[in-house]
Amino acid sequence: MSKLEDIRTHALSLIEGVSDLLVLDNARTKILGRKSELSLFLRSLKDMPLEDQKRVGAAANALRAELEELFEKKRREFSSASYESALKHERIDVTRPGLKHARGHIHPISRVIKDIVTIFSSMGFEVVEGPEVETEYYNFDALNIPANHPARDMWDTFWLRQNEVKSEKSKVKSDRLLLRTHTSPVQVRYMENHNPPLKIIVPGRAYRYEATDASHEFQFFQLEGLVVDRQISIANFKGVIQEFFSRLFKKKITVRLRPSFFPFVEPGFEVDISCVACRGAGCSICKKSGWLELAGAGMVHQNVFKAAGYTPGEWQGFAFGFGIDRIAMMKYKIPDIRLFHSGDLRFLKQF
Ligand code: FA5
Repeated sequence: MSKLEDIRTHALSLIEGVSDLLVLDNARTKILGRKSELSLFLRSLKDMPLEDQKRVGAAANALRAELEELFEKKRREFSSASYESALKHERIDVTRPGLKHARGHIHPISRVIKDIVTIFSSMGFEVVEGPEVETEYYNFDALNIPANHPARDMWDTFWLRQNEVKSEKSKVKSDRLLLRTHTSPVQVRYMENHNPPLKIIVPGRAYRYEATDASHEFQFFQLEGLVVDRQISIANFKGVIQEFFSRLFKKKITVRLRPSFFPFVEPGFEVDISCVACRGAGCSICKKSGWLELAGAGMVHQNVFKAAGYTPGEWQGFAFGFGIDRIAMMKYKIPDIRLFHSGDLRFLKQF
């Protein structure tokens, strides 16, 4: 009986000193656990004389019940205290306004595409998309690009596997798959299913297997444009493009055309705009020339109309292909094209 009294004194002083739920749990294991002094004592009862067993056993079980109740009482006290304190400290005010800038925002390229689409839509252009995985036929053959053209070289094109499905077109030319190197294939895809007059723009990704630098990426965005009717001229093109850039940059922009060669246009030209930074005076952005080179363009070649199924000689049209990344670089004065896909938040957060 005196042993039980010792256990009780010791347990009470231990419980007295407990400060939180965790310590309480540890103390409970120590006092009431399977290896505790009290449990060992209860197990040793069987070795006592029978009349002692009854008396001491009853006292030991009573002590056990007393301690268990004490622990439960303490647990309730601590639980409600910690709940009260959590209520006080972890309160969430659901009516509080959200943190500023925590929500992310649209990428600068997407923003420029949105602006471009808005302007061209207001001029009556339809927005069309085409596949990024393209056939050799649409990317090259249908655009009058001959089989031995250097653009088909391994160094310029990401080739994919051979297309196993033989299409109608594969009778004419090969049908290997590739990542489109420009958005021009959508010209023929669209004309195959639509008759003139037509006015479309095609914003989308293009891929080229080439080394990157400040103005070249292996993955970039182009904006294709195509207008076809009976009497479309280069003057129409110049007018549309001048209006487009002036609206995009919100200032008067002058357009300059220089003769150039693309197999799918005749005549073809490079499109320069007056430098948006220095207005033509000459600066580091335009390399002191006063002009920025942004696109290829020209009058649609009759062979392209033929590939689309139009009667040669019946229609006229212009087509153009801008680099959207380069337009975005102009608009937001971004010095390196590689920043767009860098995932660098220090860059992205500036927009
Ligand atoms: C073409 O891709 C022609 N399809 C454009 C065209 C369309 C001409 C319709 C005539 C009629 P080019 O390879 O020059 O042309 O590319 C057009 C524009 O895409 C370039 O002026 C440039 O702004 C952009 N561009 C080309 N390569 C890259 C690159 N690696 N990184 C970023 N922009 C590029």
